[in-house]
Amino acid sequence: MTKRILLLHGPNLNLLGTREPEVYGSVTLEQINQWAAARARWHKAELRAEQSNHEGALIDILHVARNWADGIVFNPGAYTHTSVALRDAISAISIPVVEVHLSNIHAREPFRHTSLLAPVCIGQIAGFGWRSYILGIDAVLGYLGVLPLTE
Ligand code: DQA
Repeated sequence: MTKRILLLHGPNLNLLGTREPEVYGSVTLEQINQWAAARARWHKAELRAEQSNHEGALIDILHVARNWADGIVFNPGAYTHTSVALRDAISAISIPVVEVHLSNIHAREPFRHTSLLAPVCIGQIAGFGWRSYILGIDAVLGYLGVLPLTE
């Protein structure tokens, strides 16, 4: 059956393209969503993308995902480092989540080295710019048993 993936973006990621391009690159969120959808289609999977700047709204989106999503690729932005509530939401929904970051959070300020969410995710991908999302989609679909297409 076709796998359905939620691509979820947290706070400030709506500003990608103009936000600190030396750290996050100059690709917009819209472009990332399009490339991610193309990657999902290549896997014969479906992708829906959502973004919110609000912790509670992100929690609501995760709860609703229980009704339809097989896997989640999530860039929680700064909530990565602070949000027990998002961690509890990920634990509560029992859908595999891959945490992704554009930047290598482990090579940045010490407060970014800790992720409260990574221990309840199936894995973390950080440091590859917009390609982190493509790797995240490959990772979650691989976890769900989707095999690469062969010629
Ligand atoms: C980020 C890293 C976070 O530390 C930061 O707060 C972000 C973006 C990333 O994708 O590199 O908003 O999640």
